[in-house]
Amino acid sequence: MAILPVLRYPHPALRAKCKAVEDTNDEIRTLFEDMTETMCAYPGCVGLAAPQVGVVKRLFVIDVSRKIGPKKNHGLLKLLNPVITYSEGEKISREGCLSIPEFLGDVKRARRVILRALDESGEEIEVPAKGLEAIAIQHELDHLDGILFIDKVSSLGRNLIRRED
Ligand code: NI
Repeated sequence: MAILPVLRYPHPALRAKCKAVEDTNDEIRTLFEDMTETMCAYPGCVGLAAPQVGVVKRLFVIDVSRKIGPKKNHGLLKLLNPVITYSEGEKISREGCLSIPEFLGDVKRARRVILRALDESGEEIEVPAKGLEAIAIQHELDHLDGILFIDKVSSLGRNLIRRED
């Protein structure tokens, strides 16, 4: 296990269109472990996508229970080749990103989603999500297409807010 360096905007890997993972193997499982450890090294961080650690592959980890506790979410998820198969509603909430640590911004997302993906052993899973978990899934999925939350903030005509630390 290792804590990986997190790339910061405007690193080009953050704008890459990530490639599908062809097969699950020890390399992928180790990457998942390292990404989980990296996420957990940052208080309040609920998700991390592979391009944020310089790997342009379609996978991410999320764990919103780190922020909101175990209720009404799936806890730690390690997801490969994720696809949203259903979405419903709208919700605006304040987001941040380890790769853009200076800013927060209000982003409009679907309120509920169903995600289909492979888990770390290559089994297909379906994840129905709402609340913060649905938001985190959409944020991380965007990373796999080189989309950052700041893109969606500006498209709403809203201002970015500088974080006060
Ligand atoms: Ni992010």
